[in-house]
Amino acid sequence: PAAPRINPSILAADFANMQTELARIATADFAHVDVMDNHFVPNLTFGPQMVERIQATSPIPLDVHLMIDDPDRWAPGYADLGAASVTFHLEAAADPVALARRLRAIGSRAGIAIKPGTAGESLYDILDEFDQILVMTVEPGFGGQGFMPETMPKLRALHDEARRRGSDVWLQVDGGISDDTIAQAAAAGADTFVAGSAVYGARDIEAAVIGLRERARA
Ligand code: DX5
Ligand code: ZN
Repeated sequence: PAAPRINPSILAADFANMQTELARIATADFAHVDVMDNHFVPNLTFGPQMVERIQATSPIPLDVHLMIDDPDRWAPGYADLGAASVTFHLEAAADPVALARRLRAIGSRAGIAIKPGTAGESLYDILDEFDQILVMTVEPGFGGQGFMPETMPKLRALHDEARRRGSDVWLQVDGGISDDTIAQAAAAGADTFVAGSAVYGARDIEAAVIGLRERARA
């Protein structure tokens, strides 16, 4: 199998030094960019104007995670500015399939995310419309929360269903991923790992990324 992908979340970076903070994760796979609107989640980060500058500055491609209402309206703008992947929440989208098709037509990978309390079965029949599925392993909104192991059976079932259908969709986890939790997410079928505090909280960021990759492979 392909090497596990490690996507550091810049939510845990120093927002006043974003250019330096992006340069520090140059050996990771994608920069994970958390867009929050204070409505879908009770926290606010930044919008397209900031993400456009992050895109221009980042040494690695962007993995945009939209925690916003009405992604049908806003998500294509992030694909337009060049994000490699754009992930929106199933809970917020009016027409997830139509939106995924628009994202792909622009040239971005299309991703769909589900919160810990949302069942995975609703994704089974639309798997082919997406390039990646994000199983949230915390309630979205904040970094630094504890990993929820109760989301693992859902991840495993999505993994098995995707393989049964011959899909090579990427399976991503986000929230509380660390040296202590990454192996269980990998064992349940994840291949792409978002980590905020575990990367930016480390003294040696490059070593932290390598360490996470190794533990995800074991
Ligand atoms: C949380 C965000 C995550 C967050 C993860 O809602 O979607 O991407 O940055 O942070 P950690 O890795 O610290 O849990
Ligand atoms: Zn995220």
